[in-house]
Amino acid sequence: MRTSPSLVLTALISAIGLAGCGGASTTPPVGDQGCAGCHGDPTRAGTALAQAAPPMDAHGLTARTEVTVGAHQAHLAQGVACATCHVVPAEGDRTHIDGPHAMVTFSGNVVGANDTVVATWNRDQPTCANYCHDPAMGGAVRTPLWTRTTPLTCGACHWDQQSQATTTGLHDYHVETLPPATRLDCGACHGVGYSTAGVGGVALATHADGSLQVLPVVGWQDPTCSGPRTCYASCHAVKTCRYWP
Ligand code: HEC
Ligand code: HEC
Ligand code: HEC
Ligand code: HEC
Repeated sequence: MRTSPSLVLTALISAIGLAGCGGASTTPPVGDQGCAGCHGDPTRAGTALAQAAPPMDAHGLTARTEVTVGAHQAHLAQGVACATCHVVPAEGDRTHIDGPHAMVTFSGNVVGANDTVVATWNRDQPTCANYCHDPAMGGAVRTPLWTRTTPLTCGACHWDQQSQATTTGLHDYHVETLPPATRLDCGACHGVGYSTAGVGGVALATHADGSLQVLPVVGWQDPTCSGPRTCYASCHAVKTCRYWP
């Protein structure tokens, strides 16, 4: 059977279009699957934007050890938006394909008022430094490798509050020293979604958002108490002002 001229043309335009993924052309590929036509995975569950994140990158690479892939999925799973690290291209935009590699532009909490670290991206290392990873709360991994393949533990960004050596105030007393039956999980004082095993659900929106969440039940710094660093906790049998060192 003779190949139809229109099919040949389609294949040709398609080949030119694909060159756009390399940054050489801004022609959208034919059969454009939206943003995920050039990077990401159009079969991934979620929004078109979620589908556009690596892996795969714009050159077809998928390994987490590639700088263009890195910890994208680890961040998306924790609810970190694209806009935290990129200026997000509008629908149909092709001007962002300007090489030689992707632009990282931090915004939001990483550069916000509570910032203790100027947010930086160092492609050569490749590492980041920013408030989320280093809120000046005793974290052990303050400039994590973007290409690391093992998850960060709770103690990477702040005291894990799970043992006396890595705790503040009366954390270890409540979390570790009390008998198992009365021992408290992180969520008891910090809210739904926080637990010693992990952070999820509604807590993803408040975790590392720039302000510390402590539930009212703790009565933290309650005006009834005169001194600073006190609790007026309604979970105690006798509600009195207690000092939290
Ligand atoms: C925590 C920060 C962070 C978040 C969140 C993030 N990215 Fe990235 N992104 C990066 C870094 C770092 C690179 C690598 C930059 C470089 O190559 O210098 C990158 C690169 C990319 C690239 C270029 C891949 C290539 O082949 O060069 C695409 C596409 C991309 N990101 C899309 C997204 C989308 C879509 C989202 C949201 C669904 C997202 N990113 C969320 C940090 C982030
Ligand atoms: C024609 C291919 C193509 C399409 C379609 C495309 N991108 Fe990209 N995109 C790239 C390439 C290539 C890069 C790597 C950066 C570069 O080459 O300048 C990139 C980089 C990115 C980045 C990293 C930040 C940046 O600007 O460098 C984000 C975020 C991104 N794309 C999101 C999107 C979104 C959202 C859409 C849909 C609106 C989209 N892309 C459509 C090819 C494409
Ligand atoms: C008994 C209540 C309680 C429990 C249980 C608790 N916290 Fe806290 N947490 C607090 C209070 C009160 C503060 C505020 C202290 C301050 O501002 O100095 C705090 C502060 C923090 C901070 C900020 C750093 C600091 O030390 O001020 C982190 C991080 C934290 N908690 C994590 C955790 C984790 C992780 C768990 C579970 C392993 C947990 N907390 C369990 C009451 C609690
Ligand atoms: C990527 C860094 C990072 C990791 C990893 C991390 N946290 Fe946090 N966490 C933060 C930051 C930053 C804060 C400071 C408060 C804020 O900005 O919300 C915080 C605060 C908290 C708080 C106090 C409530 C709040 O959000 O204000 C709890 C509880 C907590 N983290 C629990 C955990 C647990 C449990 C783990 C491990 C499963 C963990 N965190 C891992 C960055 C991290």
